[in-house]
Amino acid sequence: MKLSQRVQKLAESATLAVSAKAAAMKKQGIDVVSFGAGEPDFPTPEHIRAAAKAALDAGHTGYAKPASGILEAKQAVCAKLKRENQLDYEPSQVLITVGGKEALYLACMAVLDPDDEVILPAPYWVSYPEQIQLCEARSVVVEGLENNGYKVTADQIAEAITDRTRVLIFNSPSNPGGFTYSPDEVKAIADVVADRNILVFSDEMYDRLIYRDQRFLSFAAASPRAFAQALTFNAGSKTYSMTGWRVGYVAGPEPVIKAMAKIQSQTTSGTATFNQYGLVEALNGDQDPAEQMRREFEARAEYMHERLNALAGVRCVRPTGAFYAFPNVSGAYAKLGVSNSIDFSAKVLEEAHVALVPGIAFGMDAHVRLSFATSMAQIKKGLDRMEELLGKA
Ligand SMILES: Cc1ncc(COP(=O)(O)O)c(C=O)c1O
Repeated sequence: MKLSQRVQKLAESATLAVSAKAAAMKKQGIDVVSFGAGEPDFPTPEHIRAAAKAALDAGHTGYAKPASGILEAKQAVCAKLKRENQLDYEPSQVLITVGGKEALYLACMAVLDPDDEVILPAPYWVSYPEQIQLCEARSVVVEGLENNGYKVTADQIAEAITDRTRVLIFNSPSNPGGFTYSPDEVKAIADVVADRNILVFSDEMYDRLIYRDQRFLSFAAASPRAFAQALTFNAGSKTYSMTGWRVGYVAGPEPVIKAMAKIQSQTTSGTATFNQYGLVEALNGDQDPAEQMRREFEARAEYMHERLNALAGVRCVRPTGAFYAFPNVSGAYAKLGVSNSIDFSAKVLEEAHVALVPGIAFGMDAHVRLSFATSMAQIKKGLDRMEELLGKA
């Protein structure tokens, strides 16, 4: 069977080997603690489920009309972006998508041509380089440095810009980094792209999951110029624990949104209508359940950060957003007789029965990702086991 060049170039997930092994061990009855999850461990809040059930019962089971999203959902998105992010979008500037992932893919498809360059700060979310590759465009990776908490600086972005730069991908709070850019850092980056013909994909999936005194600024809110250059991406997935619903959204300049809607209408026809009613309730309804989840994540973030930094050979920046810790574990490689993040993760899985995600999947081989979207009891158990294996600092 001949497969396309396109799919042959797509990377196999570097995390696959470790997660397949963890699954096999679990099947054998081994008690594996998994820090791999990329989704909240809470059910979708009851009032959101009720809204989708009511929509089903009211007969909202046909194609979404238009495919780009029902008006109520676009209006709820505009209200959210205004209320929480100080952004003034019209419903015609909004697309409702099959999760955040479809929105990002449609954006790549709508604006990238072969050999266009996309500035991609590392550590990066795994799907960005693959989506860029599917468009035959090129990722220009810019690595965040430890002395800046793994965030990239405006100067680093300025250095990476060429005549071929078409897009900057900006993800704050970060998966996998767990860091959040401060409003000043966002403004500085907005300044360096301001006089260029560059679009900024601002992935704000975790905008509500921020901790301690961290402040969040939407990229598009940095300046009027930033507003004109940005696509703002978000979803019900992380804030409202709606990962399986597949409801996301993106807002931005109307010509780009229209182009994305055109591709959507010829591919997925958008997301299920009754799920869009769930999104409307999530955005317009009671925000307390989401806040309770956030508080729980915050407590776990603090605990995990402290325990990781107490391990020999491990250094971890304090998470300020999302639900991930992304420690540098290279100081523990020698102790386990390994030299990269895949072998490190395999060793920790075999010997401590703890599943981690190798940092190489996110462009940084000295790191591993631990999700704290799992119970405090599991977090404690997993970190106790890692402490036994690696020793105390
Ligand atoms: C940074 C980031 N962007 C986008 C997505 C995609 O979200 P969704 O599940 O809504 O497609 C994820 C999910 O893991 C993510 O972490």
